[in-house]
Amino acid sequence: MKRLVSGIKPTGDIHIGNYFGAMQQFLTLQNEYECFFFVADLHAFNQIQDAEELRKVILEVAKAYLAIGIDPHKVTLFQESQVPGHSELTILLNSLTSLGLLERAHAIKDARAKGKPINAGLFEYPVLMASDILLYQADVVPVGDDQQQHLEMTREIAERFNHLFGEYFKLPQGVHGSAGTVLGLDGRKMSKSYSNVIGLFDSPEETQEKVMRITTDSKRPEETKDPENDLLFSYHKLFSIEELPDLERRYREGGIGYKESKDILAKNMNAFLEPIRARKAELDKNEDSVLDILTEGAKKARPIADATVAEVQRRIGMTISV
Ligand code: ADP
Ligand code: TRP
Repeated sequence: MKRLVSGIKPTGDIHIGNYFGAMQQFLTLQNEYECFFFVADLHAFNQIQDAEELRKVILEVAKAYLAIGIDPHKVTLFQESQVPGHSELTILLNSLTSLGLLERAHAIKDARAKGKPINAGLFEYPVLMASDILLYQADVVPVGDDQQQHLEMTREIAERFNHLFGEYFKLPQGVHGSAGTVLGLDGRKMSKSYSNVIGLFDSPEETQEKVMRITTDSKRPEETKDPENDLLFSYHKLFSIEELPDLERRYREGGIGYKESKDILAKNMNAFLEPIRARKAELDKNEDSVLDILTEGAKKARPIADATVAEVQRRIGMTISV
């Protein structure tokens, strides 16, 4: 069976952009690949430096995986920091990574442009991500479009290793969801950092209230509207599958107002999110079961990660016993 690796960074509420960009694909792929899914807490630490907050968000992401339908009997689900190989391989791959490569990262350019402080953890984020993937010799990595550059860097680092120490690492392929980039309530990319998200675990009332805030133009109900250039309609494409042809016709011909369109969307979104919220509520009552799943997952991941680190050490000349 081919291998799949993916991680979610626990840095805030999981939103529908994360779901349609990356997580939805996990559900079908878990039946086709040997999967390693993790909570990327080492990645979050360059941002979240409050112990209580970090503990909370780690658990939230673990619950999100389970609530959307990831089956811990089929996959290995764990917390990144609890498998030491992620940190160990990162230290080794650091020395094969040029500063020039890291400077090219969109995330760093972005942080610089915004005048945000950049710690060494954030700067070398792509090396940690490469380690996450290479440790398990992943064939595929399902992620949103915005992670493509990190995957290219992973391949670049792997190729450098293979060139110097013999073909060892597999070069992973990205797998992207069909939704592309999901836009936020204000029309920019949906992102925690823009506070424009619809959370996977928002209450029905919050969801309804947020849908009403979606930016629209000021066309009246009878006016014709272009569904391809309407933020609201972009959500219908995700949540109103059955009504889509009818909605599209009413947009093009005129005869639907934004208020009615929003009411339909809020209803469909809440119907879609309801079972996910219900499973999350069960997990909230049963946190010990979540911790057990993560502990078991780390136990399964550790020997695989350890074997990769040992082989890397052998190839680079750190294993001196014969
Ligand atoms: P955020 O931008 O909210 O901080 P993350 O960077 O934690 O989100 O992203 C987690 C996963 O979700 C990644 O695979 C990313 O590509 C995907 N993702 C995030 N935002 C979106 C979006 N608006 N549309 C599609 N995919 C997204
Ligand atoms: N960088 C990813 C994000 O921001 C999270 C991540 C960390 C990841 N390590 C990974 C994704 C390894 C896939 C594979 O969303």
